[in-house]
Amino acid sequence: MNRADSTERDEYARLGREVVREAGRLLLERFHTEFTISHKGVVNLVTEMDLAAEEWIVRRILQAFPGHSILAEERHNERGRNAVTWVIDPLDGTTNYAHGYPVFSVSIGLEIAGELEWGAVFDPVRNELYTALLGGGAFCNDAPLEVSKVVSLGSSLLATGFPYDIRTSSRNNLGNFCAFALRSQGVRRSGSAALDLCHVAAGRLDGFWELKLNPWDCAAGYLIVREAGGRVTNFRGRPGSIYEGEVIASNGLIHQEMMAVLEAGDGGTTGLCDCGTG
Ligand code: IPD
Ligand code: CA
Ligand code: CA
Repeated sequence: MNRADSTERDEYARLGREVVREAGRLLLERFHTEFTISHKGVVNLVTEMDLAAEEWIVRRILQAFPGHSILAEERHNERGRNAVTWVIDPLDGTTNYAHGYPVFSVSIGLEIAGELEWGAVFDPVRNELYTALLGGGAFCNDAPLEVSKVVSLGSSLLATGFPYDIRTSSRNNLGNFCAFALRSQGVRRSGSAALDLCHVAAGRLDGFWELKLNPWDCAAGYLIVREAGGRVTNFRGRPGSIYEGEVIASNGLIHQEMMAVLEAGDGGTTGLCDCGTG
C-alpha cells in the first residue's frame, strides 16, 4: 500500500481541520434544541445529531477524496478498501449531548497504510481544537501540548469511562474504578473518551484508562497523547492499537503504577462496588 507524501498529508489535514470544526459548530447550534433520540441499547443512545454530523463529515471528505475509506460510528463502516482511512466519531459524548450536559466532541483520525498519521478532536463548547501529526507534535488551538509532570499515582488526577454493557457484563470497569479512586487524588468520568485523551495530552489529567473502546473513540486521541509526550498502551504495556479496546494513556511517569493496579485487579469485574484497599 502506498504511503502519502507530505503534501498529500497536509491536504488531508487541512480538510480534516475544517470538517471537524464544521461538525462541531453544527452540534453546538442544535445543542439544547429539540432533536430525536433513539436507543442502540438500554443505555446506548443515538441522536438525530450524531447522524447529521456523520453525514456532513463523510460527504465533505468523499467529495474531496472519493477513493478514501471511511470508518465511522453510525452508518459508514467501510474500512480497508483504500490505504487511507478516516476514523470518525461524529459525536463523542452522546449521552451528555442528549441530556444537555455540555461535554462532547467530534473526533477524526487518519490512518494511512495502517498507521495513525493525523488526528483532530474539536470541543465546540470550549472552542478547543486539538490536533496532532505523526512526528510533528500535538497542539490545542495551535499552542503546543505537553503531558503533566506528576510522578506518582497518589498525586494524580485520572479519568475513565464505562462500557454500554455495564448492566449485563461482569467486565464493566467498576472494580478498576474503585481501585483507582482509592489510590489517586480523584477519578473523573467526563462521558467523552476523546476529550479525556486530549486532557491527558494537555496535562489537565495525568492518566486515563478504559476498556471496550471503539476505534472512533480513540484514533485521534491516541496520536494526540503520544505526540504530547505521553504513553499509550494496552493493560499489559504493549503499544495500544485503536482496534484493541483497552487502553492506558498517561504522562508516562505514572504508567507502571497504573499497569500494576490493573494487573492486580480483576479486569474490572464487579457487580457491586466492593471498595477495599487490601
Ligand atoms: C462513549 C464515550 C464515553 C466512553 C464510552 C464511549 P459515545 O462514546 O466516549 O466517554 O466511556 O466508552 O462509547 O457513545 O458517546 O460516542
Ligand atoms: Ca464515542
Ligand atoms: Ca459517538
